Amino acid sequence: MHVLIVDDEKNIRESLGKYLSLENIESSGAGDGSEAFALLENNRFDAVILDLKLPGMSGQEILEWMNSRGILTPVIMISAHGEIPDAVNALKAGAKDYLTKPFNPDELIIKLKGLVENKRREDLIEAGKRTSAKENGMIGESAAMKIISAQIDKIADTDVTVLITGESGTGKEVAAQEIHKRGQRSAEPFVAVNIGGIHDSLMESELFGHEKGAFTGAHARKIGLFELAGRGTLFLDEIGEMPMPLQVKLLRVLQERKIRRLGGTSDIPINARIISATNKDIESIVKAGSFREDLYYRLNVFRINLPPLRERRDDILLMGKFLLDKAAARMAKVPHFFSAAAEEKLLAYSYPGNIRELENILERALIYCEGNEIKAEDIDLHRSSAVQSDGKHDTKMSGSLESIEKKAIQSALERCDGNRTKAAEELGVSRKTIINKIKFYGL
Ligand SMILES: Nc1ncnc2c1ncn2[C@@H]1O[C@H](COP(=O)(O)OP(=O)(O)OP(=O)(O)O)[C@@H](O)[C@H]1O
Ligand SMILES: [Mg+2]
Repeated sequence: MHVLIVDDEKNIRESLGKYLSLENIESSGAGDGSEAFALLENNRFDAVILDLKLPGMSGQEILEWMNSRGILTPVIMISAHGEIPDAVNALKAGAKDYLTKPFNPDELIIKLKGLVENKRREDLIEAGKRTSAKENGMIGESAAMKIISAQIDKIADTDVTVLITGESGTGKEVAAQEIHKRGQRSAEPFVAVNIGGIHDSLMESELFGHEKGAFTGAHARKIGLFELAGRGTLFLDEIGEMPMPLQVKLLRVLQERKIRRLGGTSDIPINARIISATNKDIESIVKAGSFREDLYYRLNVFRINLPPLRERRDDILLMGKFLLDKAAARMAKVPHFFSAAAEEKLLAYSYPGNIRELENILERALIYCEGNEIKAEDIDLHRSSAVQSDGKHDTKMSGSLESIEKKAIQSALERCDGNRTKAAEELGVSRKTIINKIKFYGL
């Protein structure tokens, strides 16, 4: 342990230093603010013992300076009798503790050791949060997910254009974010746009921006998403929904690496990395002629295909526990656990809505569940299985289930202001499914 003692009285610094050394605590001394600054800038201390009253700059001001520099070393403030209100202010300014002169050096040592131990624990928690935040991005220990993680590592630092495919809810957006996070662009923006969620007539201005007066209603200049993404990543989700005329424009932008705002007269270079995703079988829509082949080749330079959850069963429980913890935290609940029967039930299910469906199932289980063990009966698979991911209607479904489903879709649509994509997300089904269901129920 290395401690900085800031006190204008040399003999206090020295006697305190000697006392600390008996406890194997190393120390350095500073007589005023400027000496303290120089030492703090160039050394890593475990704690600072800071006299409140100093010539020139006060202990309080030194503390504020430390805060402004982001120096998080814990501080024990030393005050004389009669300075208690000041000491309280020092605590408010971030000092961890204070002692009143004259103090018992043993008390100081106990406080120091406590502080250092606390700091170590806080650092550990912070580090834990950082790593789990990093890993949280993409959970998965199955062989399939390991391959995907390795693929992401391989291309993260490159500019190569990536196409991510996979069923709805398999984590395509998570994978796109992961590519961004692991690459050199991680400090730059990650801009995601759901092509299926934008009205055709607005899409061009959404993507490329427009100048004031470019069309009726263009009251001000608008910066498009390509520009907003800057040197970061632009994620074009549900690319298969892009209307033909825009496909032509997008292709040209990708070839020329520049855009022109609607109504604009000059070209603007683009630097963003492009990642796109679709849950459609893109090759067959290319064959069917509703997606341009040349654009497909531009986008599909590197391909990541996310397998459905039922093909990576090894991930179900790991992912389940992670999602359960996440949901519990969101609902301010204590951590929960699965009973053995609950685990079996989760493992046996097919998850047409993939990870998003698992997430919804667990969220509901958490609401039903009493105590902190999720039991098999808390896991209700019917509500999600009533809506199949391929949009086919289960003919065996009972009338009452149908009406529940219809109601669920209706209320999701209401909550999402009629936005089908959002409603589909909320229900854990694909957009296609919800559109089919809306037709089916005549909503
Ligand atoms: N590997 C993963 N680790 C942790 N959470 C994940 C993972 N994959 C997906 N999820 C979670 O599952 C949900 C669905 O993921 P995401 O939105 O990325 O899927 P998607 O493939 O883009 O789905 P869609 O095609 O419906 O848009 C999200 O809530 C996401 O946080
Ligand atoms: Mg998505």
